[in-house]
Amino acid sequence: MLFLILAVSGCTASHSTLNPASSSAGKVANLSWLLFGIAAMTFTVVTLILAYVIFRNRNDRLHTISEDVNSPETPEQAAENEKRALRVVMVAGGLVPAVVLAMLMALAIVIEQGSAIASASSDTLTIQVIGHQWWWEVHYPDQGINSANEIHIPAGEPVIFRLTSDDVIHSFWIPQLGGKLDLIPGQTNTIQLQADEPGIYRGQCAEFCGLQHANMAFFVIASERDDFETWVNTQEQPAQEPEISSIEAGRQVFMGSACVYCHRIEGTNATGVIGPDLTHLASRATIGAGVLPNTRGNLAAWITNAQAIKPGNRMPPMQLDPDQLQTLLDYLETLQ
Ligand code: CUA
Repeated sequence: MLFLILAVSGCTASHSTLNPASSSAGKVANLSWLLFGIAAMTFTVVTLILAYVIFRNRNDRLHTISEDVNSPETPEQAAENEKRALRVVMVAGGLVPAVVLAMLMALAIVIEQGSAIASASSDTLTIQVIGHQWWWEVHYPDQGINSANEIHIPAGEPVIFRLTSDDVIHSFWIPQLGGKLDLIPGQTNTIQLQADEPGIYRGQCAEFCGLQHANMAFFVIASERDDFETWVNTQEQPAQEPEISSIEAGRQVFMGSACVYCHRIEGTNATGVIGPDLTHLASRATIGAGVLPNTRGNLAAWITNAQAIKPGNRMPPMQLDPDQLQTLLDYLETLQ
């Protein structure tokens, strides 16, 4: 019982399929509870039968031995007993499981069909997600927004995700919103999801894709329509022009270093496409695909030696003197 309490305490956490935040995820959660219930029932019945057989045999043994001596089983009786046993095996071990499993499979197919893409209207929000080792590139083609590792959506509305990969196969999974779909190089897969309520839902790559597969997380932030529009309006803007000279100095550090080869900042000369778009870096909650909270200290550690934090990622260590690093951080913090 103690173990069970520990085990089920995990069910209420975020990032759990058993804590659904959309109706399609709710159906999947209900299906898994149904499967669990049927499995538990089957286990209980089989265990009870087994216990009954063991105890009956133990009580009957002495009795049976004396009976066998006095009136041995005739060949007809033996054949009859064998036939009866075979019938029990056929029905309880074959027919019943076949019927139950067929019914469950039909139910699973119906639920699966129900959560597949519905006829989306032309104004349904479409978001393109490209998997990389090990981060998520996020585009809003109709809004012209480029971001990474953070997806903002309006709550209570269906959203279409178009998924593909730049390198190996990844898998797009937000347990509380349901679904799970692979990102495959050279192919676009489409999934429709909806968050019924505003909230922050953690997503995770669900297909082993190399050393930092576990550190390939993202966050879906569902907000009310108005808040979402506000976010869109901010993200559509190019990066702010530095107004004070110290910030301008920080921008020059960025433009004068290797940063520009991999990162893009809209409205500047930085047009790299290897790493995440940094136009609105400071508006995002985490860095390194969910590895660290986006604080000034963490950003400094990441820039100085990202390999120590997330070994194998493509961000090289940056050799900056402390003053340069501080002015660079000042600039990056303005990228709201
Ligand atoms: Cu990407 Cu695992």
